[in-house]
Amino acid sequence: MKIFIDSARLDQIEKAYGYGIINGVTTNPSLLKKAVDKLQQSGEKITIEEYLKKILRIAKGTPVSLEVTEFKQEKMIEQGKKLYKMFNPVANNVNIKIPVNPSFPDEEGRDFEGIQAVKTLSKAGIPVNCTLIFTPEQALLAAKAGAKFVSPFAGRIDDYIRTNNKISFKKTDYFPAEGWEVNDEILNDNGIMSGIDLVAQIVDVLSIYDFKTEVIAASIRNARQAREAALAGADIATLPYDVIMQLLVHYKTNEGMKKFTDDIIPEYANLTKD
Ligand code: E4P
Repeated sequence: MKIFIDSARLDQIEKAYGYGIINGVTTNPSLLKKAVDKLQQSGEKITIEEYLKKILRIAKGTPVSLEVTEFKQEKMIEQGKKLYKMFNPVANNVNIKIPVNPSFPDEEGRDFEGIQAVKTLSKAGIPVNCTLIFTPEQALLAAKAGAKFVSPFAGRIDDYIRTNNKISFKKTDYFPAEGWEVNDEILNDNGIMSGIDLVAQIVDVLSIYDFKTEVIAASIRNARQAREAALAGADIATLPYDVIMQLLVHYKTNEGMKKFTDDIIPEYANLTKD
């Protein structure tokens, strides 16, 4: 499974790439806002354009998702093309993130806006990451429209199931991949038992029909969920910086290291010293 960093913070992206295990970057408008707020606090003066270009250069050779902020088909297509034209020449690694269905309830008669934008941009040779996926059906349609990536939001489905059932939780709390049982019944959202179940069902559907679209397990909140995304067969997990850090941590590793350090005999350690 490839690991992307889900962040628009240059410091985090730079550090994570330094570890040599990162295969791409995903951003979204909320992540970009957080990054810019932090920059402003620090007093650093840099334009968004130059900031994004720096991210693209760090990630050279690996894909970076830039999300559209428009929600009508024509506008999303126009913005997607402009973003691609403006930023892809920097390091040839941009893909455009399009919400699968960005219609708002008051937008009557405007249907399948996202899917049509995915189709048009993909046909124009622009790689698309189709985002805000909450059902296997949405992923299937996005794949049919030519999306290079689909991004099911695992954590947000878990949030939704807990909220609908009045279960209190913290954002980083673990949610069982096999579902949450209450009174002998597994809570679910129209047959989706958990965020990881959503990822697994999408992986299955796309592989049955041999789509080349890659599944990005998104909205991952803790290390165990990242492990389960790997077990579910996700091609990629996009992880916040803190979750990437958690992947390496275990109490017994630290304890073992301490014991090894205590036991070092000088003669052995000195063998490799100049
Ligand atoms: C995916 O591409 C999104 O940026 C992200 O994973 C959303 O995660 P959140 O639900 O923790 O905000």
